[in-house]
Amino acid sequence: MKSILLIHGPNLNLLGEREPEVYGKRTLRELNQELEVFAAQSQVEIVCFQSNHEGALIDFLHEHRKRADALVINPGALTHYSYALRDAIAGVRLPAVEVHLSDIHAREEFRRVSVIRDVCLDQISGGGIESYQRGIEVVLGRLVCAEVQSFLQSRPTLDAGYRFCVQVLKRHFPKYDWAGIYLVEGNELVVHNYLGAPTPHTRIPIGQGICGAAVAEEQTIIVPDVNADPRYLSCSIATKSEIVVPIQGRQMYGEIDIDSHTPEAFWENDKNYLEQIAQSLAKWRDSF
Ligand code: DQA
Repeated sequence: MKSILLIHGPNLNLLGEREPEVYGKRTLRELNQELEVFAAQSQVEIVCFQSNHEGALIDFLHEHRKRADALVINPGALTHYSYALRDAIAGVRLPAVEVHLSDIHAREEFRRVSVIRDVCLDQISGGGIESYQRGIEVVLGRLVCAEVQSFLQSRPTLDAGYRFCVQVLKRHFPKYDWAGIYLVEGNELVVHNYLGAPTPHTRIPIGQGICGAAVAEEQTIIVPDVNADPRYLSCSIATKSEIVVPIQGRQMYGEIDIDSHTPEAFWENDKNYLEQIAQSLAKWRDSF
């Protein structure tokens, strides 16, 4: 199982009693417990650690660097001045995301500076526990991309490659209630494989529905509320939001289509890493 280090810096042990109007009422223990549930649903393990000491945080990173696949870190105030922690993150070469409970850009001037940001894939702040969940999603996106890429390098059959991709996505993103791949056949998109509830839309004319629109327009479409989008071809009343990402290489091969029962489930991260996966699939498909 993939393993993510979840590190909390100085003063975060006092969560719950420390400035609750800024950092919320959850204790560190409760925060970690909720994140463990989130991680388990994402089929990934998290290893939690907190220290008030810069050196202890660095030692922990060094010790776990070979066993872990990624890092999500709230460095606390060390964010703003610790070059030593920055160098440790750069040195262990784990895909990392910097997270904060509060919005560090809307507070004191000194908090706007992060010396950690440029050794991380992203910085997410102001979402409370959601900052951490999004951080986990960002590193998972990176790990899933790498997993798909290395599988495609083993030159699987077309069928196996497309199936693997859907399986990995569905496994690591519980908010993806339906995930599938459609392939272009003439003027239609034909479902190749999917995981989720059976769909009545096994063939969709290009240009119709959100699926057809993404291929016709040759671009990713995110629909935060499917019921407010007249293009949506309803397949389940439970579906609330959708993302469709074209697979385009030397020609348009098809698309990745994902539905969620959560409204506004998709954000920049889903678009970024799904587009990278679609690009890997297109390059692999070009090579046949
Ligand atoms: C913090 C923001 C930092 O500026 C502060 O020093 C913290 C917590 C946050 O999670 O909002 O200790 O990282």
